[in-house]
Amino acid sequence: MAASHSPRAPARATARASTENMRAPARASSKNTRASTKDMRAPARATARASTENTRASREKNVRAIFERVAPYYDQMNDAMSLGLHRRWKARAVAAMHLERAGPRTVLDMACGSGDIAARVAQRAHPQSRLICVDNNPAMLALARQRFAQPRLAHLACLKSVRFVRADAASVPLADGCVDIYCVGFGLRNFAERTQALAEAHRLLRPGGHFLCLEFAPEARGWLGAAAHAWTDTVVPQLGAWLAQDKASYIYLRDSIRRFLTPARLEAELRGAGLQRVSHRLMLGGRLALHQGWKVAA
Ligand SMILES: C[S@@+](CC[C@H](N)C(=O)[O-])C[C@H]1O[C@@H](n2cnc3c(N)ncnc32)[C@H](O)[C@@H]1O
Repeated sequence: MAASHSPRAPARATARASTENMRAPARASSKNTRASTKDMRAPARATARASTENTRASREKNVRAIFERVAPYYDQMNDAMSLGLHRRWKARAVAAMHLERAGPRTVLDMACGSGDIAARVAQRAHPQSRLICVDNNPAMLALARQRFAQPRLAHLACLKSVRFVRADAASVPLADGCVDIYCVGFGLRNFAERTQALAEAHRLLRPGGHFLCLEFAPEARGWLGAAAHAWTDTVVPQLGAWLAQDKASYIYLRDSIRRFLTPARLEAELRGAGLQRVSHRLMLGGRLALHQGWKVAA
């Protein structure tokens, strides 16, 4: 066996060597191709990053301009567009906080707008509670300040500790774990950086803290959902034109609802942000959802 192998051995070695020699430049050239593809991809990636960044910045600018425009009509338009129902939806969100049964709490109202949710919290919370109203729009935050300066709210003891913070939801200048309850009402849909905003909500909550979100949904069920859908699609922009002389902002509202996540997908994003025991309750024939979740203690 050994004798029959020995003449073939140098041949095999030569064949191996020549195959290796052939493969080496091929490997080198494929390495070079990879490197040059990498080189080609780098500027493309940088361009894609820059364009995402531009889109994000222009969306943020657009949302900011819209809320600046609608600020003077904001509360009246909410009443008109929802036929007053927004009060009931917000009351449900605040009821879900179970403030009456609780001791002092720190509640953060993210995207507080005119402070409508915060005012409901102030009326129900323990007198030693703290309230933090956050919005990135100075015109909207000014409305919240005005609301809390009204005598009806100003007499409440917990108002001593109301703070107004101008900040983006994706970057809030507050310490980790400093809030018991984080609530965002009709804000999430407008955030340019929703993933970061949800991560920030999780960071701000203390372990055991409660997250709530009221938001519209793009789909609807049954006759009530169909009616609500038709209402936001056709009547709302028209109301914007009549009452606020600003149809464009209310077309944005309609389109932002159309583009937004279904409640099931939003629930998945909340889980992705680290929230647990996540659930949602549909209202208005599925046109609206109250989402809840908890930051579970480690
Ligand atoms: C539809 S209003 C909701 C106001 C209030 N929560 C309510 O339910 O009446 C949306 C608010 O989100 C604010 N907002 C939009 N983008 C934001 C962001 N990235 N960070 C913080 N607030 C934001 C707007 O300025 C506006 O006041």
